[in-house]
Amino acid sequence: MCDERRASFFPSSAQSQRAEATVKAMSFELLDQLAREGFEEMVALHDRRSGLRAFLAIHDSGPGRAFGGIRRWSYYDEEAALRDCMRLARAMTYKCALARIPAGGAKMVLLDRPELHVENAYRHLGEVVERLGGRYYAGPDVGTNSAELALVSERTRYVTDPGPDGPGELAESTAAGVVAGIAAALRHLDGGEDWSKRTIVVQGLGEVGSRVALTLRGYGARVLASELDAERAELFAKQAGIERVDPTQELDVPCDVFSPCALGGILHDLSVLRLRCRVVAGAANNVLASPEHGEALHERGVLYVPDYAINSGALMRGSRFHLDGVREPLERIAARVGAVVESILGQSREQGLSPARVAAREAEMLVERRRLER
Ligand code: NAI
Repeated sequence: MCDERRASFFPSSAQSQRAEATVKAMSFELLDQLAREGFEEMVALHDRRSGLRAFLAIHDSGPGRAFGGIRRWSYYDEEAALRDCMRLARAMTYKCALARIPAGGAKMVLLDRPELHVENAYRHLGEVVERLGGRYYAGPDVGTNSAELALVSERTRYVTDPGPDGPGELAESTAAGVVAGIAAALRHLDGGEDWSKRTIVVQGLGEVGSRVALTLRGYGARVLASELDAERAELFAKQAGIERVDPTQELDVPCDVFSPCALGGILHDLSVLRLRCRVVAGAANNVLASPEHGEALHERGVLYVPDYAINSGALMRGSRFHLDGVREPLERIAARVGAVVESILGQSREQGLSPARVAAREAEMLVERRRLER
């Protein structure tokens, strides 16, 4: 075998030392963290033919099943993917608990990279999901929409059907819940929505953010939005009267509500100081870089509506369809999300604690109670 081929099959000693060090650091910390945070299982997946590299985290399938989407993203490295997978899976458990859905949370993350054969990778994930026999039920997430779900559903029954026989209207459900959560936050602060006097900044005009922006604009609010895709932003600005904000400046706009509907982790030490809104309430998962930032917002007098309390509309719609065969109407979903948000904000005021802390405590208590009942 020539040296060149050997090099691609056998890592250099420096490479293997580095890999060994990574595995040591990750496995030590990982197992500790899984135990600390109550995870059931973490699976690393690899498929040579499709180039698939993925993680599946099952946080809690105790009530009989765990729900969670498949995220495809080009992560900086494996550890970033692993951490994201864990955080998202745990948030799904919290989301189910607060929405009183008899299920726990899980997540799959698929590392996007040039070598990935996307179609075959999703088919492979479908086979993995099928082998779990219903313990994990997969759904959409960033990078996984109808086309990808259709590929997964070629190989498993345990995935959201993106076609006419499925639950439908998932992003609509999330958006309806987000709008209801924003309304609840405004009522909590000022006693009413008063839409025509409000300025709302939406970050991300994707499946959910565009619907949130259009609905609020329809209610008469002034809506500004940032979007990385300039063409898309322009379209909305022209057709719907939504003002554009540069995607680096949305945090600096004085407004009533900042609605993050792009990616997570955007509220950290620096960005929290820039905010000029009274309320943060949006669809994005894991908006806070860490739980302390929920406290930082509270100290600054910004009302933060916890992401997993406000963005559960699609989960409500999908789980109800899966469990009972019912397509829950959007008005009912809005009412359910609104009630969850009102309850969290009410408790926060009564107890003088941040909404982030109240939501986490309530979700943990509900999960623990369910575990004790089993
Ligand atoms: P999407 O991928 O359709 O839309 C995201 C949009 O944000 C894209 O148009 C993208 O260009 C834009 N974007 C990304 N980074 C940005 C930035 N820094 N500034 C401005 N724009 C940016 O995703 P989708 O489905 O609308 O979801 C949005 C968020 O809500 C995600 O975090 C997702 O995990 C979360 N979520 C979505 C649910 C759903 O039903 N689709 C359910 C629950 C949570």
